[in-house]
Amino acid sequence: MRVKYDVDTQLLFQIGDPLDHACACTIHNRMYELANLNAVNLNVVVKKGELPAFIQSCKQLGVKGFDITMPHKSDIIPLCDEVEPFSREFSCVNHVKIRDGKLIGVGLDGLGMVMAIEDSGFPIYGSKVLMLGAGAVSGPIAAELCQRGASSVVILNRTVSKAEKITISLKKYFPTLQATAMSMTLENLCSCAPEADLVVQCTSLGMSGHQGDYEDLTFIDLLPKDACVADVIFNPERTSILARAEARGLRVLNGMGMLVNQEKAMMKFHFGVDLGPEFALEGEETLLMALVMRQLRTRRLTRKGASK
Ligand SMILES: NC(=O)c1ccc[n+]([C@@H]2O[C@H](COP(=O)([O-])OP(=O)(O)OC[C@H]3O[C@@H](n4cnc5c(N)ncnc54)[C@H](OP(=O)(O)O)[C@@H]3O)[C@@H](O)[C@H]2O)c1
Repeated sequence: MRVKYDVDTQLLFQIGDPLDHACACTIHNRMYELANLNAVNLNVVVKKGELPAFIQSCKQLGVKGFDITMPHKSDIIPLCDEVEPFSREFSCVNHVKIRDGKLIGVGLDGLGMVMAIEDSGFPIYGSKVLMLGAGAVSGPIAAELCQRGASSVVILNRTVSKAEKITISLKKYFPTLQATAMSMTLENLCSCAPEADLVVQCTSLGMSGHQGDYEDLTFIDLLPKDACVADVIFNPERTSILARAEARGLRVLNGMGMLVNQEKAMMKFHFGVDLGPEFALEGEETLLMALVMRQLRTRRLTRKGASK
């Protein structure tokens, strides 16, 4: 690659511990290149408890920002000067920018998925949403959907208390919203499906490498014929739930659009740059390449570990 970095180069980091399997900085660097920015993103291992010292160094070095992976996603929040309200509510800050010595934090998971749903042409305003799962990505996605006018949200989860916590948070921001939490049983899936315009699959069920999948998908057959089914999972490309919905001719989208749109949102957040619609294909290819490289690196690390 042609070396073009100079004193004006904007410096950003991806931080976490460990970072052996991280590929975000490869993806970000390609985005900067596409937008012709003089910027670079580097991996920095920051151990638990080291965040304050790291932030101090960033300020001294004039670092523009950083994105955060485990174990810092919650620890960063009290260290920020400003946090986007939903990201604070659901403890999901994954990007921080530093402006005039102040730290501004945001989580982009929810926005990424909602931008992808909008890209698909599905009308969110007034829609009835069925969320499957109540893990880290569920609350932020539900909040962004409500922000765009979803009329009701039902959250089904194996652990009901986590779904209840999200509905309580949603009602704080959207007092007139109909928000319900229930256990994710087949009976509840089947009773909620006929009422749902949009299903957002937020569990790890069906993800490559995860043990477990939906045992009975008959609820998909009960969805209205113009319903949309979105899955946060991108590997495999079609989870069992998406395959069943697609076979019925429903509108489906996997987690790749969520990832691509997080990159778009990241470019807007850090640099104020809008990557146009022509970026979608390039973005997806960049992500796929980075994921393949991550797989290769994981294989190499596993082999190295085995030969020790
Ligand atoms: N596309 C993207 O950009 C993107 C970004 C982030 C994450 N993701 C994907 O999103 C998925 C969820 O991530 P997360 O961070 O929200 O994970 P998380 O916080 O660990 O939540 C996992 C969710 O899956 C449910 N679950 C797991 N195993 C289950 C089983 N055997 N039966 C029923 N429910 C089960 C959990 O239910 P309980 O609460 O009952 O445990 C919980 O609702 C992952 O597959 C992740 O790869 C995609």
